[in-house]
Amino acid sequence: MGTRFLPATKAVPKELLPIGDTPLLQLVIDEALGAGVDHVVVVSSRSKPGIEAYFEPSPEVLSALEAQGRVELADRIRSIGSDWKATVVYQDQPRGLGHAVGCAREAVGDQPFAVMLPDELMGDSSLLAHMNGICVSSGGSVVGLKRVPREDVGAYGVIEPLAPVDADGVVAIGGMVEKPDSAAAPSDLIIIGRYVLTPDVFDEIAGLQPGRGGEIQLTDALRAQAARSPFHGVLSDIDRFDTGNPLGYLEAAIALCLRRSDFGDELADFIASLPVRVADA
Ligand code: G1P
Repeated sequence: MGTRFLPATKAVPKELLPIGDTPLLQLVIDEALGAGVDHVVVVSSRSKPGIEAYFEPSPEVLSALEAQGRVELADRIRSIGSDWKATVVYQDQPRGLGHAVGCAREAVGDQPFAVMLPDELMGDSSLLAHMNGICVSSGGSVVGLKRVPREDVGAYGVIEPLAPVDADGVVAIGGMVEKPDSAAAPSDLIIIGRYVLTPDVFDEIAGLQPGRGGEIQLTDALRAQAARSPFHGVLSDIDRFDTGNPLGYLEAAIALCLRRSDFGDELADFIASLPVRVADA
């Protein structure tokens, strides 16, 4: 519902807030396309018609851009939802991440798929591509992992490793628990918002009772998968930005825009010119 971004999200879905000129949603889609995905299923709500509008063709915009000779931008706009397939499905009530993934069952079909939480931006597609490779070679689901201080694990799904993390960052997983107390947590390895899952997870989701917070938790379905199938995590030190709150969003915007070839240098000069805030003694 984007409550942390009100009043902006009163009219604009959070997923369409821009980093520079590109919506958060598109950045996540670009990451997916870079890892070989060709069909994007967005689980949305009927109160966000802007999401569907984003995937619709824009003939007026395209003819204006072409008349101005802005061919590259026109191609970029034209590719949205046409070079790859976009499907919007609805979650009518906020019943949890597991429930949201379950809403995509029909659109996804009987094949492995990635789940990407658009509150998190990764610097590139490398983690998702690596996870995809492990899913193919192991035949089981894979989650993205990050190591955090023990006291921070309670905000996340936490995995139970079966062995040490190997040199490639891959670890076999025996189970996982959603938002445990830090003292009871099975490790300091948290699940970040990237998953590559085998489609049998949909049966697990369909059988779930509400879990932590009264919600249908994806973590609970994954624990059931891990109990009977190979299940791995990939620990990565990839750049990861939490855009779920205004400060994290701003940090992501600055870090990612500094990389831009068109105005990154000017942005760096502007930041360097700002007065440094000195804390009161
Ligand atoms: C969700 C998942 C959690 C995961 C987290 C990653 O939690 O339920 O297991 O660690 O995303 O961001 P949420 O942030 O929706 O509470």
